[in-house]
Amino acid sequence: MTGRPADEEKGMGIKMIEIIEKKKGNTVTNKMRLEFAALSNNESFARMAVAAFITPLNPTLEEMSDVKTAISEAVTNAVLHGYENRNSLEDRICMECMLRGDVLEVEIADRGIGIEDVRLAMEPLYTSKPDQDRSGMGFAFMEAFMDNLEVESEMGCGTLVRMCKKIGISSWIDSEE
Ligand SMILES: Nc1ncnc2c1ncn2[C@@H]1O[C@H](COP(=O)(O)OP(=O)(O)OP(=O)(O)O)[C@@H](O)[C@H]1O
Ligand SMILES: [Mg+2]
Repeated sequence: MTGRPADEEKGMGIKMIEIIEKKKGNTVTNKMRLEFAALSNNESFARMAVAAFITPLNPTLEEMSDVKTAISEAVTNAVLHGYENRNSLEDRICMECMLRGDVLEVEIADRGIGIEDVRLAMEPLYTSKPDQDRSGMGFAFMEAFMDNLEVESEMGCGTLVRMCKKIGISSWIDSEE
């Protein structure tokens, strides 16, 4: 009898599905998780860490700058609003990054005071701290510079910001086609 043994064929089938899924960008291809103290100094640390994480995808300068700005805004919000700029080493921010092919997914979470009205907070120019020279544009920048932004929050429990963006030269080649 000719032909491949059933097990070998099954193995090839699984491999093909893996290749197709990877191409579609559904498979997680890299992951990292950082936890750091909610100090304003750590904003640049977080930004640089994500920049290094996406470097293998060959981001354009604009993509790199967009991602760094979005990360800075989210971390600054956690420090200033979530933890009310207390500068305590006990206050932690957790940042999780994931790559699905050339799509970056980032989650930035704090266990701070939370946001009472997320929809209002996300409105451009809304700030709860106009006296502190805030312009209320943080969420608007995150929305503009990333492909997607979601915010979940509970008063007294904290806030989770989830963002994603397609990275790398293939994103604009694809859109040209
Ligand atoms: N992590 C957070 N925890 C608690 N409140 C938050 C958090 N992030 C944002 N907020 C609330 O949402 C509002 C809007 O945030 P946004 O970043 O858009 O503006 P801002 O921080 O006030 O000003 P800017 O970012 O322009 O300096 C904040 O004023 C604050 O009330
Ligand atoms: Mg802000």
